[in-house]
Amino acid sequence: MKVFTSLEEWKRLRPGLTGSLGLVPTMGFLHEGHLSLTRRAVAENDLSVVWIFVNPKQFGDGADLEAYPRDMERDLALLEAGRVDYVLAPPAGEVYPPDFQTLVTVEALSKPLEGAGRPGHFQGVATVVAKMISLTQPARAYFGQKDGQQCVVVRRMVADLSMLTEIVVCPTVRDADGLALSSRNVRLTPEQRRAAPVLHRALSAAQESIAAGERNADTVRLKMRAVLDAEPLAHTEYASLADAESLEECGTETGAVTGTVMASLAVRFGEVRLIDNVLIEVD
Ligand code: PAJ
Repeated sequence: MKVFTSLEEWKRLRPGLTGSLGLVPTMGFLHEGHLSLTRRAVAENDLSVVWIFVNPKQFGDGADLEAYPRDMERDLALLEAGRVDYVLAPPAGEVYPPDFQTLVTVEALSKPLEGAGRPGHFQGVATVVAKMISLTQPARAYFGQKDGQQCVVVRRMVADLSMLTEIVVCPTVRDADGLALSSRNVRLTPEQRRAAPVLHRALSAAQESIAAGERNADTVRLKMRAVLDAEPLAHTEYASLADAESLEECGTETGAVTGTVMASLAVRFGEVRLIDNVLIEVD
C-alpha cells in the first residue's frame, strides 16, 4: 500500500495506472461501515484508493471539526490488512490552498433534512467529492446508505456534471443492537450508547407501519416520533418520510406514501448528533 500526503505526487502517478480504479472517500477513524466499502472497492476493481480527509468545508462549527475523532496509524493498518493499493491523506492546505475559490452546489437536494440544520454542509461535501473524482478518475466510487442524502446529492452532481464515475451505494452496517456504526458513536457516554438504538427502533416502526398498510405520511412520522419521545436522552431534530429521489416530504398535499421512500432521522444525545435512515419500497 502506498500512502500519499502530496496530491502533486499522486497526480504524477495517476496517468501511469492502468485498469479500473475504485475510490472510497472517508474522513478516517475507520470502522466496519467504511471497511465494507473498501472490501467492495478492492473486490470489484483492478486498483483501489481510499481518501482520508476531515473536510473542514462540510463542518459548520469549528468545535465539531475539532472534536471529530482521528487515528491515522490505526486507519492505515486496517487498510493495509484490507489490501488497499493507495491512500490519499492530504493536509488541508493541499486540498484548499489559499487561492482556492471553486465550490460545487447541488441546489434543491442540499436544502432539506441535513441541509436545513447544517447550511453549507452539502456544498462542502460536493466540492470535496468532485475534487477527489477529478484527482483519481475512478471507474466506481463507493458510498454508504448510512448517509442517505449524501448519496442522493453525490449522484445528482455526478449526473449533472457528466462525470464518468459510477456511484455504488452500499448497505448500512449496524451493531448487533441496531445502532448504525458511526465515527461519532465513540463520543457517546455509556448511558447515551445504551439509548442510541432508539433510532433504529423508530425506523423499524416506520417500516412495519408501512408494511402493515399505512399510507398516511403524517401517521408514519408520528409513529417514529412516539418511539423517539419515549427515550428521555434522545432529542429529535427531524423525523422525515420523503421521496427517496427528490427528497420532498411525502404527502404534503395528499398524505399518500408511494414509490421508494426514505425514512430518516437526526437525533442528538447531549453534544453528539446521530443520523440514520432506511429506504422503504411502497407497492
Ligand atoms: P465518513 O463519515 O467518514 O463516511 C465515509 C463513507 O462511509 C460514507 O460514504 C458513509 O456513508 C460510509 N459509512 C459510514 N458509516 C457507515 C455504516 N455504518 N455503514 C455503511 N457505510 C457507512 O461521509 C463522509 O465521510 C464524508 O462526507 C465524505 C463523503 C468523505 C466527504 O468528505
